[in-house]
Amino acid sequence: MALLGVNIDHVATVRQARRTDEPDPIWAASEAELGGADGITFHLREDRRHIGDRDARLLSETVGVKLNMEMAIAPAIVDIACEIAPAQSSLVPERREELTTEGGLDVVAHAQRIKDVVARLNEGGTVVSAFIEPILDQVQASADCGCAAVELWTGAYAHAKGEAQRQQALDDLRAALALGQELGLEVHGGHGLTYRNIAPIAAVQGFSEFNIGHSIVSRAVFVGMREAVRQMKELLQRHAPREN
Ligand code: PXP
Repeated sequence: MALLGVNIDHVATVRQARRTDEPDPIWAASEAELGGADGITFHLREDRRHIGDRDARLLSETVGVKLNMEMAIAPAIVDIACEIAPAQSSLVPERREELTTEGGLDVVAHAQRIKDVVARLNEGGTVVSAFIEPILDQVQASADCGCAAVELWTGAYAHAKGEAQRQQALDDLRAALALGQELGLEVHGGHGLTYRNIAPIAAVQGFSEFNIGHSIVSRAVFVGMREAVRQMKELLQRHAPREN
């Protein structure tokens, strides 16, 4: 069964709506752990729109499960990642005008820079995952750059209009997943996954981790973070591919 990484960014989004000190994403991370999260994911954006430096530091000191830092390959952010040394860094593209990470990192175009960032992060013991679209050249380039994992962007699946588009998106994910495994990469998935659309993705053989944020934080508003995580874990378990 795939591991569940809970992205807590949007707890910080609510805090930042009033520039106050609640709700605290550090509390959210603890509650997510108590609900069964296998990992805590956060994105320290260059514009610090939700998670801030204080959060990144405290998460690195307090999270007991796998800590995954989503990050751009900007030098100042890489310096912070090297300092706090999370278990895993997920390299993502970042544009200031976007609402959330839109699409994957172009590893083919930025191969040399990414190779250097991977080497620096690996030195401090951080494993690197590249957040990419399910395109075979991007999977190959990620392996060539020394990444240990890829996180496949599931946005095309999540936003598909109609069954044909959804099946095409699932086929693209399966093809990228197969190549990733062939190249010895761990394959993760994330973006736009919800309680309503997780079942077909959870049933795909080979994903070792899903990172889910907005849907879990949204449900947590009504049922609490611990229960929201428990419910998503239950769905992953119920729909997990049968072991061979
Ligand atoms: N994985 C990555 C790399 C992301 O950038 C995001 C969004 O921050 C997620 C997963 C989680 O996406 P969502 O909030 O849509 O579940």
